[in-house]
Amino acid sequence: MIVSTEELCGVGKSIQIRRATKSFGAVAAMKDVTLDVAPGEFLTLLGPSGSGKTTTMMAIAGFTDLEFGEIVIDGARVDRLPPNLRNIGVVFQHLALFPHMSVADNVAFPLKMRGMPAHQVRARVQRALDLVELSSLGARLPAQLSGGQQQRVAFARAVVFDPPVLLLDEPLGALDRKLRESMQAELKSLQKRLGVTTLMVTHDQGEALAISDRIAVMNHGQIEQIGSPEDLYEDPATLFVADFVGASNHIVGTVRSVSGDICTIITSGGVECVGQVRQVRDTSVVTMVVRPERVLLGQEALDAENRHSGVIETVTYVGDTVRYSVRISASDVLLTNVQNARGRPRLSVGDAVTVGWNSEDSIVFVPVK
Ligand SMILES: Nc1ncnc2c1ncn2[C@@H]1O[C@H](COP(=O)(O)OP(=O)(O)O)[C@@H](O)[C@H]1O
Ligand SMILES: [Mg+2]
Repeated sequence: MIVSTEELCGVGKSIQIRRATKSFGAVAAMKDVTLDVAPGEFLTLLGPSGSGKTTTMMAIAGFTDLEFGEIVIDGARVDRLPPNLRNIGVVFQHLALFPHMSVADNVAFPLKMRGMPAHQVRARVQRALDLVELSSLGARLPAQLSGGQQQRVAFARAVVFDPPVLLLDEPLGALDRKLRESMQAELKSLQKRLGVTTLMVTHDQGEALAISDRIAVMNHGQIEQIGSPEDLYEDPATLFVADFVGASNHIVGTVRSVSGDICTIITSGGVECVGQVRQVRDTSVVTMVVRPERVLLGQEALDAENRHSGVIETVTYVGDTVRYSVRISASDVLLTNVQNARGRPRLSVGDAVTVGWNSEDSIVFVPVK
């Protein structure tokens, strides 16, 4: 059933986190975190396990007190308010459905807590279950649903009271890959239809890229970079971001020369190459990052600024692409993905081949100690 946007809340509110800091003993879970989420935006906190994503989410929801800093929703400070007065919808990492309550009662719960009259509760629950296409399953218990259906119930329960802000902690974490991918598209479209400002937490960079308006990459309790999926992938600000978002080749070498924003490096295997420079100060040991799909092979490599002869070391057939690793020196191996187009010659282990890439597709970073 199609629910018109007018029937739904449609009014996302801004979230601002200002200099938020939180430690657990010696562990700094949030270090001076500042983040603005625009009304209606889908922003994802992406980072490895332990980087402070859940702590940030719990601080916004009101389940964790900050030591320092502020949380502001729609211009008003909320960090001293109890969770139930913040009017935020939350889907916890493990969904936290009430196992002994029916689907409809789970979804009704936040409304009953707010003292809503029974006839209004019924109508709202119906609307929320229609939204996630579960209207026929209201009488079931959570255990009688599939993983994807349980995820939808948790979503319906989080949005049933029309919150202006929605927090999702690894909401698709329990689903298998195929279902996960279809739920990503569904989640994004539901979020846009509702207009609810959404902060999602995930450690899955593919999911973050597919679903978000913007992504904030967290590392050790700090935000390393905030930007659109394309910004982060094409123009990572740090080696950590380059490494965490998408696959990349690392070519480690020492700086030969820097000219404007182009840097020439040489590896211990004697490979000389040029790339765009980032953060190169007086340090001489650097890492050049090149995305596998920007590494060219054979004919296509002949016009590239960086060109090297190499030998195919491994061939991995992955369906839509073929992955080759190519050794270009005793210390340097490059991975490349080649589209599995009909008619393109397949290379074999031991074949001699030219590899190349352009300086605009490679970024040089100083490794962070
Ligand atoms: N209640 C807690 N008590 C002690 N340490 C905690 C607690 N919650 C989180 N931490 C620690 O804070 C850091 C950040 O945790 P968390 O925010 O859960 O990370 P993420 O969600 O990114 O995996 C981790 O080192 C974690 O062990
Ligand atoms: Mg977490």
